Amino acid sequence: LADEQPGDPHVTTSDSLVFSPPAGSAMLRPDFLFGAATASYQIEGAATADGRHPSIWDTFCRVPGAVHNADNGDVACDHFHRWQSDLQLISDLGFDGYRFSVSWSRVMTVDGQRNEKGLDFYKRLLDELERRGLKSFLTLYHWDLPQHLQDRGGWLNRDTATRFAEYADLMSREVAGRVSAWTTLNEPYCSAYLGHTTGRHAPGLKDVRYGVESMHHLLLGHGLATEAVRANDKAPVGLVANVCAMVPASDSPKDRRAAELSYANANTWVLDPLLLGTYPEELAELWPGVKAPVRAGDMATISTRMDYLGINYYFRSNIRSDGAHGYVEEDLPNVERTQMGWEVYPDGLRDLLLDFKHRYPGLPPIYITENGMASDDSPVAGRVADEQRLRYLNRHVAAVDQAMRQGVDVRGYFAWSLLDNFEWSYGYEKRFGLVHVDYDTQVRTPKDSALALKRFLEQRRG
Ligand code: NOJ
Repeated sequence: LADEQPGDPHVTTSDSLVFSPPAGSAMLRPDFLFGAATASYQIEGAATADGRHPSIWDTFCRVPGAVHNADNGDVACDHFHRWQSDLQLISDLGFDGYRFSVSWSRVMTVDGQRNEKGLDFYKRLLDELERRGLKSFLTLYHWDLPQHLQDRGGWLNRDTATRFAEYADLMSREVAGRVSAWTTLNEPYCSAYLGHTTGRHAPGLKDVRYGVESMHHLLLGHGLATEAVRANDKAPVGLVANVCAMVPASDSPKDRRAAELSYANANTWVLDPLLLGTYPEELAELWPGVKAPVRAGDMATISTRMDYLGINYYFRSNIRSDGAHGYVEEDLPNVERTQMGWEVYPDGLRDLLLDFKHRYPGLPPIYITENGMASDDSPVAGRVADEQRLRYLNRHVAAVDQAMRQGVDVRGYFAWSLLDNFEWSYGYEKRFGLVHVDYDTQVRTPKDSALALKRFLEQRRG
Protein backbone atom coordinates (compact mmCIF):
# COMPACT_ATOMS: atom_id res chain seq x y z
CA LEU A 1 0.00 0.00 0.00
CA ALA A 2 2.99 2.27 0.48
CA ASP A 3 3.22 2.59 -3.30
CA GLU A 4 -0.42 3.45 -3.70
CA GLN A 5 -1.07 6.37 -6.02
CA PRO A 6 -4.15 8.55 -5.84
CA GLY A 7 -6.74 7.19 -8.24
CA ASP A 8 -5.45 3.60 -8.15
CA PRO A 9 -8.31 1.33 -9.09
CA HIS A 10 -8.22 -0.85 -6.01
CA VAL A 11 -10.39 -0.17 -3.03
CA THR A 12 -10.12 3.27 -1.51
CA THR A 13 -11.99 4.09 1.65
CA SER A 14 -14.77 5.90 -0.15
CA ASP A 15 -15.16 3.25 -2.90
CA SER A 16 -15.39 0.60 -0.30
CA LEU A 17 -18.43 2.28 1.21
CA VAL A 18 -20.54 2.22 -1.92
CA PHE A 19 -23.14 -0.39 -2.67
CA SER A 20 -23.56 -0.47 -6.41
CA PRO A 21 -24.99 -3.05 -8.75
CA PRO A 22 -23.28 -2.83 -12.16
CA ALA A 23 -24.13 0.05 -14.51
CA GLY A 24 -27.14 -0.72 -16.67
CA SER A 25 -28.34 -3.48 -14.34
CA ALA A 26 -32.06 -4.17 -14.03
CA MET A 27 -31.40 -3.97 -10.29
CA LEU A 28 -31.15 -0.22 -10.64
CA ARG A 29 -34.84 -0.11 -11.48
CA PRO A 30 -37.21 0.33 -8.57
CA ASP A 31 -39.23 -2.76 -9.46
CA PHE A 32 -36.30 -5.01 -8.51
CA LEU A 33 -36.92 -5.75 -4.85
CA PHE A 34 -34.22 -5.28 -2.23
CA GLY A 35 -35.00 -6.66 1.19
CA ALA A 36 -33.58 -8.04 4.40
CA ALA A 37 -34.37 -11.41 5.94
CA THR A 38 -34.71 -12.99 9.38
CA ALA A 39 -36.28 -16.10 10.94
CA SER A 40 -38.45 -16.52 14.03
CA TYR A 41 -36.26 -18.65 16.28
CA GLN A 42 -33.16 -16.65 15.40
CA ILE A 43 -34.52 -13.27 16.48
CA GLU A 44 -37.80 -13.38 18.41
CA GLY A 45 -36.89 -14.63 21.90
CA ALA A 46 -39.92 -14.56 24.24
CA ALA A 47 -39.84 -18.34 24.17
CA THR A 48 -42.79 -18.84 26.50
CA ALA A 49 -44.79 -15.65 25.86
CA ASP A 50 -48.53 -15.83 25.17
CA GLY A 51 -48.71 -19.61 25.17
CA ARG A 52 -45.82 -20.36 22.83
CA HIS A 53 -44.73 -23.93 23.44
CA PRO A 54 -41.31 -25.45 22.69
CA SER A 55 -40.00 -26.21 19.24
CA ILE A 56 -37.31 -28.76 18.41
CA TRP A 57 -34.74 -25.97 18.60
CA ASP A 58 -35.69 -25.14 22.21
CA THR A 59 -35.07 -28.79 22.98
CA PHE A 60 -31.90 -29.14 20.91
CA CYS A 61 -30.30 -26.10 22.55
CA ARG A 62 -30.51 -27.95 25.88
CA VAL A 63 -28.54 -30.93 24.60
CA PRO A 64 -25.00 -30.61 26.00
CA GLY A 65 -22.52 -29.83 23.24
CA ALA A 66 -25.17 -29.31 20.54
CA VAL A 67 -24.86 -25.51 20.33
CA HIS A 68 -21.72 -23.41 20.69
CA ASN A 69 -21.44 -21.86 24.14
CA ALA A 70 -24.74 -23.56 25.09
CA ASP A 71 -26.52 -20.55 23.56
CA ASN A 72 -30.28 -20.68 22.92
CA GLY A 73 -33.13 -18.60 21.48
CA ASP A 74 -34.84 -17.72 24.78
CA VAL A 75 -34.10 -14.01 24.36
CA ALA A 76 -32.23 -13.75 21.02
CA CYS A 77 -32.73 -10.21 19.62
CA ASP A 78 -35.88 -9.78 21.73
CA HIS A 79 -37.63 -8.95 18.48
CA PHE A 80 -40.93 -10.15 19.94
CA HIS A 81 -40.91 -7.04 22.14
CA ARG A 82 -38.96 -4.75 19.80
CA TRP A 83 -40.68 -5.51 16.52
CA GLN A 84 -41.91 -1.95 16.05
CA SER A 85 -38.47 -0.38 16.28
CA ASP A 86 -37.08 -3.20 14.13
CA LEU A 87 -39.61 -2.39 11.40
CA GLN A 88 -38.70 1.26 11.79
CA LEU A 89 -35.10 0.22 11.16
CA ILE A 90 -36.10 -1.60 7.97
CA SER A 91 -37.86 1.55 6.76
CA ASP A 92 -34.93 3.75 7.80
CA LEU A 93 -32.56 1.59 5.80
CA GLY A 94 -34.77 2.06 2.76
CA PHE A 95 -35.60 -1.58 2.04
CA ASP A 96 -38.51 -2.51 -0.20
CA GLY A 97 -39.35 -5.69 1.65
CA TYR A 98 -38.88 -7.90 4.67
CA ARG A 99 -38.62 -11.69 4.77
CA PHE A 100 -39.49 -13.26 8.13
CA SER A 101 -40.87 -16.52 9.44
CA VAL A 102 -43.76 -17.51 11.65
CA SER A 103 -43.21 -19.64 14.73
CA TRP A 104 -45.63 -22.55 14.38
CA SER A 105 -45.46 -23.04 18.17
CA ARG A 106 -46.82 -19.53 18.72
CA VAL A 107 -49.83 -19.70 16.49
CA MET A 108 -51.14 -23.21 17.16
CA THR A 109 -51.70 -24.94 20.47
CA VAL A 110 -50.45 -28.47 21.16
CA ASP A 111 -53.88 -29.80 20.25
CA GLY A 112 -53.84 -28.14 16.89
CA GLN A 113 -56.12 -25.23 17.81
CA ARG A 114 -55.48 -21.59 16.95
CA ASN A 115 -53.61 -19.51 19.51
CA GLU A 116 -55.22 -16.11 19.20
CA LYS A 117 -52.45 -14.18 20.93
CA GLY A 118 -49.75 -15.78 18.82
CA LEU A 119 -51.67 -15.01 15.65
CA ASP A 120 -52.12 -11.41 16.77
CA PHE A 121 -48.38 -10.90 16.92
CA TYR A 122 -47.99 -11.69 13.22
CA LYS A 123 -51.13 -9.78 12.27
CA ARG A 124 -49.77 -6.66 13.92
CA LEU A 125 -46.45 -7.19 12.17
CA LEU A 126 -48.14 -7.56 8.77
CA ASP A 127 -50.34 -4.52 9.34
CA GLU A 128 -47.33 -2.43 10.19
CA LEU A 129 -45.38 -3.70 7.17
CA GLU A 130 -48.29 -2.71 4.98
CA ARG A 131 -48.61 0.69 6.62
CA ARG A 132 -44.95 1.28 5.86
CA GLY A 133 -45.34 0.15 2.26
CA LEU A 134 -42.98 -2.79 2.77
CA LYS A 135 -43.45 -6.07 0.89
CA SER A 136 -43.88 -9.01 3.25
CA PHE A 137 -42.35 -12.40 2.43
CA LEU A 138 -43.75 -14.81 5.00
CA THR A 139 -42.02 -18.16 5.59
CA LEU A 140 -44.16 -20.78 7.29
CA TYR A 141 -41.38 -23.13 8.32
CA HIS A 142 -37.87 -22.01 9.14
CA TRP A 143 -36.84 -25.21 11.00
CA ASP A 144 -38.74 -24.74 14.28
CA LEU A 145 -41.05 -27.77 14.35
CA PRO A 146 -43.28 -27.88 17.45
CA GLN A 147 -41.70 -30.34 19.88
CA HIS A 148 -44.99 -32.18 20.44
CA LEU A 149 -44.98 -33.14 16.74
CA GLN A 150 -41.37 -34.31 17.08
CA ASP A 151 -42.54 -36.46 19.98
CA ARG A 152 -44.77 -38.23 17.45
CA GLY A 153 -41.92 -38.79 14.99
CA GLY A 154 -41.58 -35.30 13.50
CA TRP A 155 -40.74 -35.31 9.80
CA LEU A 156 -40.15 -39.06 9.93
CA ASN A 157 -43.90 -39.36 10.40
CA ARG A 158 -45.88 -38.80 7.21
CA ASP A 159 -48.65 -37.29 9.31
CA THR A 160 -46.46 -34.22 9.99
CA ALA A 161 -46.91 -33.23 6.33
CA THR A 162 -50.67 -33.15 6.93
CA ARG A 163 -50.26 -31.20 10.18
CA PHE A 164 -48.09 -28.71 8.26
CA ALA A 165 -50.82 -28.25 5.65
CA GLU A 166 -53.33 -27.58 8.45
CA TYR A 167 -51.03 -24.92 9.86
CA ALA A 168 -50.61 -23.41 6.37
CA ASP A 169 -54.38 -23.41 5.99
CA LEU A 170 -54.85 -21.63 9.31
CA MET A 171 -52.24 -18.97 8.60
CA SER A 172 -53.43 -18.28 5.08
CA ARG A 173 -57.05 -17.97 6.20
CA GLU A 174 -56.04 -15.61 8.98
CA VAL A 175 -53.91 -13.23 6.95
CA ALA A 176 -55.24 -13.64 3.41
CA GLY A 177 -54.69 -10.50 1.37
CA ARG A 178 -51.96 -9.16 3.66
CA VAL A 179 -48.91 -11.15 2.50
CA SER A 180 -46.85 -10.30 -0.61
CA ALA A 181 -45.45 -13.82 -1.01
CA TRP A 182 -45.63 -17.10 0.89
CA THR A 183 -42.75 -19.50 1.45
CA THR A 184 -43.68 -22.98 2.58
CA LEU A 185 -40.28 -24.33 3.69
CA ASN A 186 -36.94 -22.68 4.21
CA GLU A 187 -34.01 -24.89 3.16
CA PRO A 188 -35.52 -28.38 3.48
CA TYR A 189 -32.01 -29.71 2.84
CA CYS A 190 -30.93 -28.43 6.23
CA SER A 191 -34.02 -29.80 8.01
CA ALA A 192 -33.56 -33.23 6.42
CA TYR A 193 -29.81 -33.65 6.05
CA LEU A 194 -28.38 -31.59 8.90
CA GLY A 195 -31.28 -32.50 11.19
CA HIS A 196 -31.60 -36.21 10.43
CA THR A 197 -28.39 -37.43 8.73
CA THR A 198 -25.48 -35.52 10.27
CA GLY A 199 -27.25 -34.46 13.47
CA ARG A 200 -25.77 -30.93 13.38
CA HIS A 201 -29.25 -29.41 13.60
CA ALA A 202 -32.40 -30.22 15.55
CA PRO A 203 -33.69 -32.84 16.08
CA GLY A 204 -30.10 -34.12 16.04
CA LEU A 205 -30.69 -37.55 14.45
CA LYS A 206 -27.94 -39.35 12.54
CA ASP A 207 -29.06 -41.88 9.98
CA VAL A 208 -29.02 -41.59 6.18
CA ARG A 209 -32.36 -43.39 6.10
CA TYR A 210 -33.87 -40.71 8.33
CA GLY A 211 -32.46 -38.00 6.06
CA VAL A 212 -34.16 -39.50 3.01
CA GLU A 213 -37.47 -40.15 4.77
CA SER A 214 -37.70 -36.74 6.40
CA MET A 215 -36.88 -35.04 3.09
CA HIS A 216 -39.75 -36.81 1.40
CA HIS A 217 -42.22 -35.79 4.09
CA LEU A 218 -40.95 -32.22 4.10
CA LEU A 219 -41.41 -31.95 0.34
CA LEU A 220 -44.81 -33.58 0.57
CA GLY A 221 -45.69 -31.05 3.27
CA HIS A 222 -44.58 -28.29 0.90
CA GLY A 223 -46.92 -29.55 -1.83
CA LEU A 224 -49.89 -29.94 0.51
CA ALA A 225 -49.24 -26.55 2.12
CA THR A 226 -49.02 -24.90 -1.30
CA GLU A 227 -52.47 -26.24 -2.17
CA ALA A 228 -53.82 -25.09 1.20
CA VAL A 229 -52.47 -21.55 0.82
CA ARG A 230 -53.71 -21.28 -2.77
CA ALA A 231 -57.22 -22.17 -1.67
CA ASN A 232 -57.22 -19.15 0.67
CA ASP A 233 -55.03 -16.47 -0.86
CA LYS A 234 -53.92 -15.13 -4.22
CA ALA A 235 -50.35 -14.18 -3.26
CA PRO A 236 -47.53 -16.17 -4.89
CA VAL A 237 -46.39 -19.35 -3.14
CA GLY A 238 -42.91 -20.85 -3.36
CA LEU A 239 -40.15 -22.64 -1.51
CA VAL A 240 -36.70 -21.44 -0.47
CA ALA A 241 -33.79 -23.76 -1.28
CA ASN A 242 -30.18 -23.40 -0.22
CA VAL A 243 -27.79 -24.18 -3.04
CA CYS A 244 -24.06 -24.73 -3.08
CA ALA A 245 -21.42 -24.45 -5.80
CA MET A 246 -19.03 -27.40 -6.12
CA VAL A 247 -15.55 -27.78 -7.55
CA PRO A 248 -13.79 -31.14 -7.90
CA ALA A 249 -10.50 -31.23 -5.98
CA SER A 250 -8.76 -32.59 -9.09
CA ASP A 251 -9.51 -33.49 -12.68
CA SER A 252 -9.57 -37.20 -11.92
CA PRO A 253 -12.79 -39.01 -12.90
CA LYS A 254 -13.27 -40.05 -9.27
CA ASP A 255 -13.12 -36.49 -7.95
CA ARG A 256 -15.33 -35.24 -10.73
CA ARG A 257 -17.92 -37.90 -9.92
CA ALA A 258 -17.61 -37.03 -6.23
CA ALA A 259 -18.40 -33.39 -7.05
CA GLU A 260 -21.47 -34.54 -9.02
CA LEU A 261 -22.65 -36.60 -6.07
CA SER A 262 -22.14 -33.70 -3.75
CA TYR A 263 -24.03 -31.41 -6.16
CA ALA A 264 -26.92 -33.89 -6.13
CA ASN A 265 -26.91 -34.05 -2.36
CA ALA A 266 -26.87 -30.29 -1.89
CA ASN A 267 -28.91 -29.06 -4.85
CA THR A 268 -30.89 -31.49 -7.00
CA TRP A 269 -32.11 -33.64 -4.09
CA VAL A 270 -34.50 -30.75 -3.39
CA LEU A 271 -34.86 -29.09 -6.79
CA ASP A 272 -35.47 -32.17 -8.98
CA PRO A 273 -38.54 -33.41 -7.11
CA LEU A 274 -39.97 -29.88 -7.06
CA LEU A 275 -39.26 -29.00 -10.67
CA LEU A 276 -39.04 -32.39 -12.44
CA GLY A 277 -41.17 -34.58 -10.18
CA THR A 278 -38.39 -37.15 -9.65
CA TYR A 279 -35.50 -37.70 -7.25
CA PRO A 280 -32.03 -37.52 -8.86
CA GLU A 281 -30.49 -40.91 -9.72
CA GLU A 282 -27.27 -40.04 -7.85
CA LEU A 283 -29.06 -40.63 -4.55
CA ALA A 284 -28.98 -44.40 -5.21
CA GLU A 285 -25.20 -44.22 -5.50
CA LEU A 286 -24.84 -42.01 -2.45
CA TRP A 287 -27.06 -44.12 -0.20
CA PRO A 288 -27.44 -47.59 -1.72
CA GLY A 289 -30.58 -49.38 -0.68
CA VAL A 290 -32.19 -46.33 0.88
CA LYS A 291 -35.42 -45.28 -0.80
CA ALA A 292 -37.76 -42.36 -0.22
CA PRO A 293 -41.16 -43.54 1.11
CA VAL A 294 -43.00 -42.43 -2.05
CA ARG A 295 -46.70 -43.26 -2.33
CA ALA A 296 -48.90 -42.92 -5.41
CA GLY A 297 -49.56 -39.26 -6.16
CA ASP A 298 -46.79 -37.90 -3.93
CA MET A 299 -44.49 -36.73 -6.72
CA ALA A 300 -47.36 -34.89 -8.43
CA THR A 301 -48.15 -33.12 -5.14
CA ILE A 302 -44.51 -32.26 -4.56
CA SER A 303 -44.07 -30.88 -8.07
CA THR A 304 -47.16 -28.69 -7.87
CA ARG A 305 -46.31 -25.54 -9.80
CA MET A 306 -44.40 -22.97 -7.73
CA ASP A 307 -45.00 -19.28 -8.37
CA TYR A 308 -41.39 -18.50 -7.59
CA LEU A 309 -38.28 -20.23 -6.30
CA GLY A 310 -36.26 -18.70 -3.48
CA ILE A 311 -32.51 -19.27 -3.65
CA ASN A 312 -30.15 -18.96 -0.67
CA TYR A 313 -26.48 -18.90 -1.62
CA TYR A 314 -23.39 -18.52 0.53
CA PHE A 315 -20.28 -20.42 -0.67
CA ARG A 316 -18.54 -23.08 -2.73
CA SER A 317 -17.24 -26.47 -1.60
CA ASN A 318 -14.11 -28.22 -2.86
CA ILE A 319 -14.91 -31.91 -3.25
CA ARG A 320 -12.68 -34.99 -3.25
CA SER A 321 -13.71 -38.61 -3.69
CA ASP A 322 -13.68 -40.63 -0.48
CA GLY A 323 -12.53 -43.63 -2.50
CA ALA A 324 -15.95 -45.29 -2.27
CA HIS A 325 -19.32 -43.87 -3.36
CA GLY A 326 -19.10 -40.67 -1.50
CA TYR A 327 -17.14 -37.49 -1.13
CA VAL A 328 -15.28 -35.40 1.39
CA GLU A 329 -15.03 -31.63 1.55
CA GLU A 330 -11.55 -30.17 1.68
CA ASP A 331 -10.69 -26.53 2.25
CA LEU A 332 -9.11 -24.88 -0.78
CA PRO A 333 -5.91 -23.06 0.20
CA ASN A 334 -5.44 -19.31 -0.31
CA VAL A 335 -9.01 -18.25 -0.84
CA GLU A 336 -10.95 -15.49 0.87
CA ARG A 337 -13.09 -16.80 3.72
CA THR A 338 -15.73 -15.45 6.08
CA GLN A 339 -16.05 -15.80 9.86
CA MET A 340 -17.84 -19.11 9.17
CA GLY A 341 -14.77 -20.34 7.29
CA TRP A 342 -16.87 -20.35 4.10
CA GLU A 343 -15.15 -19.54 0.81
CA VAL A 344 -16.25 -16.29 -0.84
CA TYR A 345 -17.10 -17.33 -4.40
CA PRO A 346 -19.63 -15.05 -6.12
CA ASP A 347 -19.29 -16.73 -9.56
CA GLY A 348 -20.81 -19.83 -8.01
CA LEU A 349 -24.13 -18.04 -7.65
CA ARG A 350 -24.15 -16.99 -11.31
CA ASP A 351 -23.16 -20.47 -12.46
CA LEU A 352 -25.81 -22.19 -10.36
CA LEU A 353 -28.55 -19.88 -11.65
CA LEU A 354 -27.48 -20.61 -15.22
CA ASP A 355 -27.32 -24.37 -14.49
CA PHE A 356 -30.84 -24.28 -13.11
CA LYS A 357 -32.17 -22.39 -16.11
CA HIS A 358 -30.69 -25.07 -18.33
CA ARG A 359 -31.74 -28.06 -16.23
CA TYR A 360 -35.31 -26.96 -15.46
CA PRO A 361 -37.28 -25.73 -18.48
CA GLY A 362 -40.15 -24.74 -16.19
CA LEU A 363 -37.95 -22.76 -13.80
CA PRO A 364 -40.21 -20.16 -12.15
CA PRO A 365 -39.07 -16.59 -11.45
CA ILE A 366 -36.36 -16.43 -8.82
CA TYR A 367 -35.83 -14.38 -5.71
CA ILE A 368 -32.48 -14.50 -3.99
CA THR A 369 -33.98 -14.97 -0.55
CA GLU A 370 -30.68 -15.06 1.35
CA ASN A 371 -27.11 -14.04 0.68
CA GLY A 372 -24.61 -12.54 3.06
CA MET A 373 -21.73 -13.33 5.35
CA ALA A 374 -20.66 -13.50 8.97
CA SER A 375 -17.86 -11.36 10.32
CA ASP A 376 -16.56 -10.65 13.78
CA ASP A 377 -18.04 -7.15 14.01
CA SER A 378 -18.08 -4.79 16.94
CA PRO A 379 -18.87 -1.08 17.07
CA VAL A 380 -16.04 1.39 17.57
CA ALA A 381 -17.28 4.84 18.51
CA GLY A 382 -20.72 3.97 17.16
CA ARG A 383 -19.49 2.69 13.83
CA VAL A 384 -19.14 -0.87 12.53
CA ALA A 385 -16.65 -1.03 9.67
CA ASP A 386 -17.65 -4.23 7.83
CA GLU A 387 -15.86 -3.67 4.53
CA GLN A 388 -15.64 -7.36 3.78
CA ARG A 389 -19.45 -7.69 3.92
CA LEU A 390 -20.02 -4.76 1.60
CA ARG A 391 -17.53 -6.17 -0.88
CA TYR A 392 -19.24 -9.56 -0.55
CA LEU A 393 -22.66 -8.04 -1.26
CA ASN A 394 -21.40 -6.00 -4.21
CA ARG A 395 -19.72 -9.00 -5.79
CA HIS A 396 -22.73 -11.24 -5.32
CA VAL A 397 -25.26 -8.81 -6.76
CA ALA A 398 -22.88 -8.41 -9.72
CA ALA A 399 -22.95 -12.20 -10.16
CA VAL A 400 -26.75 -12.21 -10.01
CA ASP A 401 -26.78 -9.41 -12.57
CA GLN A 402 -24.64 -11.50 -14.92
CA ALA A 403 -27.12 -14.37 -14.66
CA MET A 404 -29.99 -11.96 -15.33
CA ARG A 405 -28.25 -10.67 -18.45
CA GLN A 406 -28.04 -14.28 -19.61
CA GLY A 407 -31.77 -14.71 -19.26
CA VAL A 408 -32.40 -15.82 -15.69
CA ASP A 409 -35.53 -14.14 -14.36
CA VAL A 410 -34.50 -12.79 -10.94
CA ARG A 411 -36.97 -10.44 -9.27
CA GLY A 412 -35.36 -9.56 -5.97
CA TYR A 413 -32.51 -9.91 -3.51
CA PHE A 414 -32.74 -10.26 0.27
CA ALA A 415 -29.63 -9.84 2.36
CA TRP A 416 -29.14 -12.28 5.21
CA SER A 417 -29.59 -10.90 7.72
CA LEU A 418 -31.28 -7.76 8.96
CA LEU A 419 -29.80 -8.32 12.43
CA ASP A 420 -27.00 -10.29 14.01
CA ASN A 421 -28.86 -13.26 15.44
CA PHE A 422 -28.83 -16.84 16.74
CA GLU A 423 -26.80 -18.71 14.13
CA TRP A 424 -28.14 -22.18 15.03
CA SER A 425 -25.46 -24.56 16.27
CA TYR A 426 -22.90 -21.73 16.10
CA GLY A 427 -24.85 -19.67 18.63
CA TYR A 428 -24.44 -15.89 18.78
CA GLU A 429 -20.73 -15.74 17.98
CA LYS A 430 -21.22 -15.62 14.21
CA ARG A 431 -22.59 -12.25 13.13
CA PHE A 432 -24.50 -12.16 9.82
CA GLY A 433 -26.35 -8.89 10.43
CA LEU A 434 -26.38 -5.73 8.39
CA VAL A 435 -27.19 -4.30 11.78
CA HIS A 436 -25.06 -5.09 14.82
CA VAL A 437 -26.83 -6.30 17.96
CA ASP A 438 -25.32 -5.84 21.41
CA TYR A 439 -26.90 -8.79 23.22
CA ASP A 440 -26.38 -7.23 26.67
CA THR A 441 -28.26 -4.04 25.89
CA GLN A 442 -30.17 -5.01 22.70
CA VAL A 443 -28.82 -1.84 21.09
CA ARG A 444 -28.91 -2.03 17.29
CA THR A 445 -26.14 -0.31 15.29
CA PRO A 446 -26.36 -0.29 11.49
CA LYS A 447 -23.04 -1.46 10.08
CA ASP A 448 -21.33 0.43 7.25
CA SER A 449 -22.73 -2.09 4.75
CA ALA A 450 -26.28 -1.23 5.84
CA LEU A 451 -25.60 2.49 5.49
CA ALA A 452 -24.19 1.93 1.99
CA LEU A 453 -27.32 -0.02 1.01
CA LYS A 454 -29.43 2.79 2.44
CA ARG A 455 -27.65 5.41 0.33
CA PHE A 456 -28.07 3.25 -2.76
CA LEU A 457 -31.75 2.62 -2.14
CA GLU A 458 -32.42 6.31 -1.44
CA GLN A 459 -30.71 7.33 -4.67
CA ARG A 460 -32.53 4.67 -6.63
CA ARG A 461 -35.82 5.92 -5.35
CA GLY A 462 -34.76 9.36 -6.58
C1 NOJ B 1 -29.49 -20.26 5.97
C2 NOJ B 1 -30.61 -20.19 6.95
O1 NOJ B 1 -31.85 -20.10 6.32
C3 NOJ B 1 -30.43 -19.13 8.00
O2 NOJ B 1 -31.32 -19.43 9.04
C4 NOJ B 1 -29.00 -19.08 8.44
O3 NOJ B 1 -28.80 -18.23 9.52
C5 NOJ B 1 -28.15 -18.64 7.27
N1 NOJ B 1 -28.30 -19.60 6.20
C6 NOJ B 1 -26.66 -18.52 7.58
O4 NOJ B 1 -26.13 -19.76 7.88
